[in-house]
Amino acid sequence: MGLKGVLVAFEGIDGSGLTTHSKLLVERLRREGFKAGYTKEPTWGPVGRLIRELLLEQSVDHEVMALLYAADRLWHLRVRSCLGMGVLEALGEGFVVVVDRYKYSSMAYQSLGTDVGWIGEVNRGAPEADIIVYIDIPVSLALERIAARRLTFYYETYERLTRIKENFKKILENAEERGVKVVRIRGTDEEGKPRAVEEVHEEIYRQAIDRIKSLKA
Ligand code: TYD
Repeated sequence: MGLKGVLVAFEGIDGSGLTTHSKLLVERLRREGFKAGYTKEPTWGPVGRLIRELLLEQSVDHEVMALLYAADRLWHLRVRSCLGMGVLEALGEGFVVVVDRYKYSSMAYQSLGTDVGWIGEVNRGAPEADIIVYIDIPVSLALERIAARRLTFYYETYERLTRIKENFKKILENAEERGVKVVRIRGTDEEGKPRAVEEVHEEIYRQAIDRIKSLKA
């Protein structure tokens, strides 16, 4: 992408542990001497705040949401991220930028109600990630975790999250075909019980580190 940094996107359905694991990866990379930073979408900027307000409504217009997420993403890329500067600037400075959700969430979630090709179009200002880490958990566990944590957002029903999971499968395959390194991680064991955070983290790290090192070389 012509930038010196590395863009790592964490993706998955709600409650899959994206925030926990993206932050753990950043801490690990920093301990190892990498310039690394965590950031998140939707942002806490003006468009991100509007998105959160709309997510509490009972119904949403999928195209309005797609445009808002795309606008929030451009703001995040060009204006400000949790690193204090836009993501693109941070990449230009050589950071490993770990983003907790990115445009692949738009493709999986907003395509519930609109064409995925058009979602790609409105996101054309957002560069492809170098690595996507996808954490896979059952929808039932996702719903349990969300209920324990905060108010429920529009997308967080059994039926919608099931469709979103199916959308992710296809989106990740397509990204892989374009040369993106996709790391798929199971958040639960054979019996469907959550795996230990440390164990999941180790697996993410082991599967992502070689690509990060080769891109930084
Ligand atoms: P989430 O990561 O759950 O925010 P927080 O951790 O602050 O509660 O994101 C909010 C919701 O937005 C979540 O249901 C996923 C959805 N989403 C999209 O539908 N499209 C997108 O492009 C992004 C980034 C998120």
